[in-house]
Amino acid sequence: MTTSADRPVPELVRRALANAEADGFTHSCEPGVGRLLAALAATKPTGRLAESGTGHGVGAAWLCSGMTADASLVTVERDSLRAEVARALFSGDERVRVLTADWTALRELGPFDLFFCDGGGKRDDPDGVVGLLAPGGILVLDDFAPATTWPPRYGDGVDDLRMHYLTHPLLVATEVRVTDTMAVVVGVRSAR
Ligand SMILES: C[S@@+](CC[C@H](N)C(=O)[O-])C[C@H]1O[C@@H](n2cnc3c(N)ncnc32)[C@H](O)[C@@H]1O
Repeated sequence: MTTSADRPVPELVRRALANAEADGFTHSCEPGVGRLLAALAATKPTGRLAESGTGHGVGAAWLCSGMTADASLVTVERDSLRAEVARALFSGDERVRVLTADWTALRELGPFDLFFCDGGGKRDDPDGVVGLLAPGGILVLDDFAPATTWPPRYGDGVDDLRMHYLTHPLLVATEVRVTDTMAVVVGVRSAR
């Protein structure tokens, strides 16, 4: 039987994964998340895309595989060595900028049409994260366990962080299960 795990992965993603493996970095996004990122990136011709937490550039490579030739991506990573490796990976692609910086550097560069918030911001400044979105802009948050209850739970209590995004007054948001064990939250900033 053929499964989605057999589906080919873009060359740039494979190179990013190889760099991550060589460095022992295990926090790159899963292919299911990456394919979602690519599809969402494709909905934003001329779009301004952003990512917090470049890691080794796996998520950014997926975004690149979907974004149009006239779109742009800025991704920020506070670890200088990781940022350097990712910068080299994207050196041939003028659409992409890799900054060595805290995620808050994105405040000077927004608003964004798509924001993959994957390193900084998600927990420490949820409203600031939403504030980076242009009207119609899409927010993607990784690394949730699929919810089996409403409200979703985390440990012994309600998952307040997930609830914050899912019920945010400026977002139309939902949870998308990408594997048996992983879900992402996708929110679109309303024009209100
Ligand atoms: C989950 S990994 C990112 C994986 C990457 N987005 C991908 O899809 O392959 C999180 C990364 O965020 C970086 N990071 C954590 N806090 C940060 C912050 N405040 N500003 C910028 N980067 C941060 C970490 O150094 C780490 O490389």
